Amino acid sequence: MSRNLDRRRFLGRSAAATTGLAIGANLTLPAVHAVGSDAIRVGLVGCGGRGTGAAEQIMRAGKDVRLVALGDLFRERLESSFQALGRAGGENFAVTKERCFVGIDAYKQVIDSGVDAVLLATPPHFRPAHVEAAVAAGKHVFVEKPVGVDAPGTLRVREACRVAARKGLSVVSGLMLHYDESMQRTIEQVHGGAIGRIVALECNYNVGGLWVIHRQPGWSDMEWQLRNWYYFTWLSGDHIVEQHVHLLDLVAWAMKGEYPVRAVGSGGRQARTDRVYGNIYDHHAVRYEFAGGPRCYSSCRQQDGTANEISCFAFGTHGTADLLKRSIAGERPWQYETAAGKKVRNIWGGHQEEQIAFVESVRSGKPIDNGEYMCQSTLMAIMGRMATYTGQEVTWEQVTASKEDFTPTRYEFAPHAVAPVAVPGVTKLS
Ligand SMILES: NC(=O)c1ccc[n+]([C@@H]2O[C@H](COP(=O)([O-])OP(=O)(O)OC[C@H]3O[C@@H](n4cnc5c(N)ncnc54)[C@H](O)[C@@H]3O)[C@@H](O)[C@H]2O)c1
Repeated sequence: MSRNLDRRRFLGRSAAATTGLAIGANLTLPAVHAVGSDAIRVGLVGCGGRGTGAAEQIMRAGKDVRLVALGDLFRERLESSFQALGRAGGENFAVTKERCFVGIDAYKQVIDSGVDAVLLATPPHFRPAHVEAAVAAGKHVFVEKPVGVDAPGTLRVREACRVAARKGLSVVSGLMLHYDESMQRTIEQVHGGAIGRIVALECNYNVGGLWVIHRQPGWSDMEWQLRNWYYFTWLSGDHIVEQHVHLLDLVAWAMKGEYPVRAVGSGGRQARTDRVYGNIYDHHAVRYEFAGGPRCYSSCRQQDGTANEISCFAFGTHGTADLLKRSIAGERPWQYETAAGKKVRNIWGGHQEEQIAFVESVRSGKPIDNGEYMCQSTLMAIMGRMATYTGQEVTWEQVTASKEDFTPTRYEFAPHAVAPVAVPGVTKLS
């Protein structure tokens, strides 16, 4: 990130904010508790919806956990997170105003603020730089999905995770279904042969539109894109990467960690035509092929007024697993709720459990390494986007060799043209 970073110009009209936040005088600070020397000290980078949620969950993950530092690009995002976490965290909230950092370098300041572990929850574009810096500084990391928006960035994260493993640091992934007990049991059934050999899979993440941030007077191109990050491929990776990665990861998990050898797809934007929607698509349909024949039929759509479906199936020679329903039909029918005698309250469970596991790994000195699957699953999603953007067949080798790097030449609040919307048949694989 330091490569082309013009830090002074980046912050433009709020340059003073880079120096480790003098958080606003009008901010009411909750009571601050001393941090015991045996407490696990945690910093959060990216104080939005998910980061704030993850921080709240880690504060609930043990008595000996202290949230001590916050960092965000934007002051008001940090302030609202600070308030919410202060209310929720009780004595585990130990953030002082001296450990609140605003600006593009906030991640470095959080990492250098005496923490043991960091939660990384900015838009995914920044993940490679943030994971690298945290691991280089010897911090345990919780890494939200996806871990990159392009193959070069994702491979940097994979390398950093390998370094983390050598250093004995934990890398816990935000692909939280891996920590959901009902999903673990369901996958165990599939791996144990309950549906026989998998011959096909299907996953669908078809929902309506999401939030959007309209441009305000005085915002540069770059500032608006950073605030409205979801709609720019360089920041989010497009929704097939940003959101659908959860289900693609589940497919790969069902396949015992196998990843596809090739993909073909089609996609585009029919409802998202306004420029406020940047340059991402609103639908992608991809057929992934695994070595030996199994295929995964994958669709994701974000269009208001269309049929919603979030589902994921594995079809085997002896039965079918409806993974999100945690149930199996066929020769060996099985249902988690019946087998375990308890209800599945949330199909997206695992958020609290992943933080408990993270804390426990740091406390016990038994590091967790989720690096490989979180990177491979991100690459699988990028593979799908490469297929839909170009209209070409894409092999796994082409993905891992891809030089398509979305890093802007500069991070500065200045003009930053929006890349054209990809056109299948015209946009080239790179
Ligand atoms: N695992 C899950 O269930 C789940 C759910 C939601 C989001 N997420 C992931 O979490 C990440 C964040 O999503 P969100 O919904 O919280 O978005 P958000 O917009 O609510 O929060 C992102 C925050 O990061 C800040 N930010 C942007 N660039 C930054 C930078 N360079 N340095 C520091 N801060 C920066 C923003 O100002 C904002 O406060 C995404 O990768 C998303 O895919 C995961």
